[in-house]
Amino acid sequence: MSTDAIVILKQDHKEIKSLFRKFQGAGEHATEVKGELVNRIIELLTVHTYIENEVMYPEVRKLVPELEDDVLESYEEHHVADVLCVELAALSPDAERFDAKATVLIENVTHHIDEEEQDWFPKVRESLGRKQLQELGSRMLELKKSAPTRPSQPSALKKTVDAVIS
Ligand SMILES: [Fe+2]
Ligand SMILES: [Fe+2]
Repeated sequence: MSTDAIVILKQDHKEIKSLFRKFQGAGEHATEVKGELVNRIIELLTVHTYIENEVMYPEVRKLVPELEDDVLESYEEHHVADVLCVELAALSPDAERFDAKATVLIENVTHHIDEEEQDWFPKVRESLGRKQLQELGSRMLELKKSAPTRPSQPSALKKTVDAVIS
């Protein structure tokens, strides 16, 4: 398995987007299925934003100064996703606002993923060497093992706060 940072993050994106499609295709009354899908989406997103916030974003900010604004915007987009995940995790799948909130999460994250993949990951690949990307990827794979899986876990909340105030 590749340890290239961008390959790893794109693989996560693919998995997340496939769950999005399943949610969108689940149908009006598939309450239980949609509840399970949202649980899994929250879990994958919490791990993914954690490793990006802890490793990818600070390193890119340091090593590719021209991407500073993109990284800052991305932190804010993660923050919006975190807030939606916290709220969704507290909602019952049969709640009136569950589908609407999940749909807004999906729209926001899809936009965010597209920006990462189209706008700034290619510039990261141009600027960093293969070895550097592999080193970043290894660190992210290692961090995945201890990453929070629920947005309410202290380490997940800490990164949300850090992203806003630091
Ligand atoms: Fe991201
Ligand atoms: Fe990402």
